[in-house]
Amino acid sequence: MKKYWLLLALIFPLFASGQSRTIAERVDSVMNLMTLEEKIGQMNQYNGDKKATGPISINTDKEGQIKSGMVGSVLNVKTVFNTRKIQELAMQSRLKIPLLFGLDVIHGYRTIFPIPLAESCSWDMALMELAARIAAKEASASGTHWTFAPMVDIARDPRWGRIMEGAGEDTWYGSKVAAARVKGFQGTGLGNSDAVMACAKHFAAYGAAQGGRDYNTVDLSERELHEVYLPPFKAAVDANVATFMNAFNTLNGIPATGSAMLQRVYLKGKWHFGGFVVSDWESIGEMIPHGYAADKKEAALLAIKAGCDMDMQSRSYIDNLAQLVREGKVEENLINDAVRRILTKKFEMGLFDDPFRFCDPEREKSQWNNRENLYVARDVARKSAVLLKNSGNTLPIISKTNKIALIGPLVKSKFDNLGFWNISWPDDSLRIVSLWDGMANRVGKERLLYAKGCNIEGEDESGFEEAVSVARKADIVIVSVGEKFDMSGEGKCRSNLHLPGVQEKLVMELITTGKPVIVMISAGRPLIFNTIAEHAHAILYTWWLGTEAGNAMADILLGDYNPSGKLTVTFPRAEGQIPLNYNHLNTGRPDGEKAISGVNKIYKSNYLDISSLPLYPFGYGLSYTTFKYGELMLNTHKPAGNDTLEVSIDVTNTGQYQGEEIVQLYIRDIVASVARPVKELKGFSKVMLTPGETKRVKFMLSNEDLKFYDSNLNYIWEEGEFQVMVGPNSADLKSDKVVWCRSSAK
Ligand code: NOJ
Repeated sequence: MKKYWLLLALIFPLFASGQSRTIAERVDSVMNLMTLEEKIGQMNQYNGDKKATGPISINTDKEGQIKSGMVGSVLNVKTVFNTRKIQELAMQSRLKIPLLFGLDVIHGYRTIFPIPLAESCSWDMALMELAARIAAKEASASGTHWTFAPMVDIARDPRWGRIMEGAGEDTWYGSKVAAARVKGFQGTGLGNSDAVMACAKHFAAYGAAQGGRDYNTVDLSERELHEVYLPPFKAAVDANVATFMNAFNTLNGIPATGSAMLQRVYLKGKWHFGGFVVSDWESIGEMIPHGYAADKKEAALLAIKAGCDMDMQSRSYIDNLAQLVREGKVEENLINDAVRRILTKKFEMGLFDDPFRFCDPEREKSQWNNRENLYVARDVARKSAVLLKNSGNTLPIISKTNKIALIGPLVKSKFDNLGFWNISWPDDSLRIVSLWDGMANRVGKERLLYAKGCNIEGEDESGFEEAVSVARKADIVIVSVGEKFDMSGEGKCRSNLHLPGVQEKLVMELITTGKPVIVMISAGRPLIFNTIAEHAHAILYTWWLGTEAGNAMADILLGDYNPSGKLTVTFPRAEGQIPLNYNHLNTGRPDGEKAISGVNKIYKSNYLDISSLPLYPFGYGLSYTTFKYGELMLNTHKPAGNDTLEVSIDVTNTGQYQGEEIVQLYIRDIVASVARPVKELKGFSKVMLTPGETKRVKFMLSNEDLKFYDSNLNYIWEEGEFQVMVGPNSADLKSDKVVWCRSSAK
């Protein structure tokens, strides 16, 4: 023990935060002490054991490597108890460089918030920032330094299971969400004890996997890469994100992990990103099956040259980099640059001053079952649900409704509410609020009837009879159907997006009772449910709403909260329509009105057997009240240069309830040197209106909003005619035109 303190006393002055010493100087002072092997150790990250809640088990090989300074970071270790235990191992190493603990805190730590796709349907940046803030507070109080979030991949294919982890299909909107989430995780800055480092992932274009199949090939034009997939990453850099994660996929033939273009030219070059890049799980080693590297040694060579600073789990760096340097194949400068980036973050996090500063049991306790956090989670959940149908004002359920039947495989389900990227705890079944719990909390069990009806999967219809008889005894029927928590998420891609099993059939049986049927759909992606869409009285798409799911659902069903969420992803009618996003090009043969009447015309861009329109468009969502949009007002029809175009519209609440409307602004560049999308979201505004109230909503557009990448990848705007559109969703818009010139003289 005595020896330990003596060593600390000798070494810590070297790292010390003397007032005049900048972090860069302190990093240099550490690097001067490091051997090549110790430097490479900082670039090595190992998996711990996420599930461990008692003492962590880490194998002796890893333990030995941590003690000899051959590990820079460990992932999947949680709680103060466990992180402290492992950090103590690092404190036995020669230089006592603290470990970074990383974890997938995707939408909550102890308090689980709605899945990111759901949250994005709130169109509430402050709320998403707050949810990430709370996740960071809880995680940092429990020993976590670094979250592998936000995922900022644009996703336009609901077959892809990870669509649940992002902010939907729109780049402009996704960029705003990326910045909000980074700010939320990192708070007012690294160095605060409640800030965790964020990680923008997966760089890049992981969401464009062919066929919606995870880890699959991505082949994109440079223009589409720049226009659609890169901007949310740039927004994360601008929001000061601490780290990046590269991606499993190849991009135009090169694995993203080995892409110098992405990591060195764009990220660290043009964008001046000062943080570090971690690989995805074994993605360095996966360059071998990609057919890009012959073995791990070559994979390590390609990855370090490409700018990947830390190796998650594949051991390619720790086993090969030193040799590669000795052979003269890798310049030590590349290693120094990577280590400098990693150590800088460790200094910024304050870990050199106190390696255990995130290991305070009292703070952990204060964030455990924190009531305020749960309250926010309930609010975020209410704001994330999207009301898709409400014929005859079936919802909200009025107080004199006597008996309420709750039917379906998800009514009493608890864990499913957390979605795929949950962080599980032993007492989950006591804490997670199911739909049943939420309703019982509000109206009492006496008024509730229950039948499971069927399982989520499988063909068994034996529960239908009981379900129908329970429905007949009730005044109103709520059916809860959807996906299991692990039917969307990483590696959870599906070719069939219909409601799994016999759930749609169950709903149709219940509809034949003639009772009002409200369908709640919980899922991690847009599902296909055309028959339900036609026949159910009301549909509430809840996604996965987290720990407080049931309370939030009850708030909405019973009218304590008037839903305001709007879809950030298009809902198709059939898998064959995919990809289906609102901001497509017009084609030379646009489908036009025929698609609406359902009679398809041949030699148009459509299908013979189905409408080419979505079931629900991007931006769509209802409220318990109704909103009327007035005429579009423009301050000028001839803006010039960097004029501001003011776009206004009066929105009136014409219904019975106070409600919040998300007013959306789109533009279209009608003729350009590169064909432009039929619509591009450029603004939105949330307005709260009491019944009868009218508010004027104003948007400002500038020539910055007109910019796009031309055929030479220059980011420009061109003068000409533009359509300006405002409305409640991407398919229901008031429109006008302006001519925007370079200068008014013209
Ligand atoms: C693989 C996933 O692609 C990535 O997003 C995640 O952060 C890592 N595994 C670590 O769990």
